[in-house]
Amino acid sequence: MIFVTGGAGFIGSNFILNWIKSNAEEVVNLDKLTYAGNLENLASVQANSKHIFIEGDIGDLELVTKLLDKYQPRAVINFAAESHVDRSIHTPEAFVKTNMLGTFWLLEAVKNYWNRLDEIAKNNFRLLHVSTDEVYGTLDKQAPAFNEENRYEPNSPYSASKAASDHLVRSYHHTYGLPVLTTNCSNNYGPFQFPEKLIPLMIVNALEGKSLPIYGDGQQIRDWLYVEDHCVAICKVLESGSVGETYNIGGWNEKPNLDIVHEVCSILDESKPRSDQKSYREQITYVKDRPGHDRRYAIDARKIERELNWKPAETFETGIRKTVQWYLENWQWIANVQSGVYRDWVEKNYVGRT
Ligand code: NAD
Ligand code: TYD
Repeated sequence: MIFVTGGAGFIGSNFILNWIKSNAEEVVNLDKLTYAGNLENLASVQANSKHIFIEGDIGDLELVTKLLDKYQPRAVINFAAESHVDRSIHTPEAFVKTNMLGTFWLLEAVKNYWNRLDEIAKNNFRLLHVSTDEVYGTLDKQAPAFNEENRYEPNSPYSASKAASDHLVRSYHHTYGLPVLTTNCSNNYGPFQFPEKLIPLMIVNALEGKSLPIYGDGQQIRDWLYVEDHCVAICKVLESGSVGETYNIGGWNEKPNLDIVHEVCSILDESKPRSDQKSYREQITYVKDRPGHDRRYAIDARKIERELNWKPAETFETGIRKTVQWYLENWQWIANVQSGVYRDWVEKNYVGRT
């Protein structure tokens, strides 16, 4: 079986749903169920005996040790993290705790478990650490996309804490021989993404008649990848990646934020027109920029394409239509995540920004 951490979050839950659809192997899912963890994402596999959910913290050495000994996984895939840049600006401590210290304790538990395995199991074992392109910092408009040789130059508490976790993972390979793999992926979008991130926030605000807050001039560029493509890439790296290597994953799909929001508005104009027949673009408002806002991310994904024969299946045009459709069809999911905690966050991040 495999052991997934953070499997009740956006990417982790998509990964588990895909895994269970296409594999016979069981998944143990350890998740702390922070505001971003939502068991409703996994409702369709709740009764499936191939999915074993445990509520807990990756930083709990005793618990993780007990679980690894009990389930004897052949691989650990670490999705668990605090993942939102704006939150890392308001409350960096949580990012240091989970992304840095949590990853450290997880590495300790995994290293000790791995050392107790027999030679064959030891050789077959993998720890796959899921990371981000944000560790490389920001790019000028004309600069080549990030490849695996780029220097780490993180600029936010989020990216700095992820960079630190990547370094720890690397060190456990070089120092202790732990068979690790690291992936650095660009911005994901798709079903089950918490509406604090750009695309789901814009869909939800548009439909609720609220403003669509664009930070600064909206010309910051991100590379966007449909979440299922990321999940397939992770499976490829897990099965065929070279131990100790890192793999950049991206969609070759760089777009300024404003273009993304325009695209979301156009799809909504078509599928769920406003009652006054005006475009959802009318709701766009420019707000105060994010401090330290990275201007551009771009991923050179040639290594994973060349070595592991991976390419994204979705274009942005197909992926964004599926995504908007999913949110339109899952209004109850949205209503359920908009708890008091969510409303508090919106208040904290957006009030005073206009
Ligand atoms: P998310 O915030 O939606 O989910 C994170 C999950 O981790 C939640 O279920 C949460 O409950 C759980 N978690 C948090 N702290 C924990 C802890 N201490 N112990 C156990 N579980 C804990 O994040 P996501 O967007 O699904 O991202 C998953 C991973 O992928 C993260 O490591 C993130 O850095 C990375 N990543 C995300 C993106 C993106 O665009 N979302 C892109 C590249 C890489
Ligand atoms: P986000 O989804 O938070 O991902 P990240 O910061 O990790 O790239 O944001 C994507 C881009 O959208 C980023 O440049 C910030 C911008 N943004 C806005 O303009 N308005 C918003 O309300 C949010 C949440 C993000």
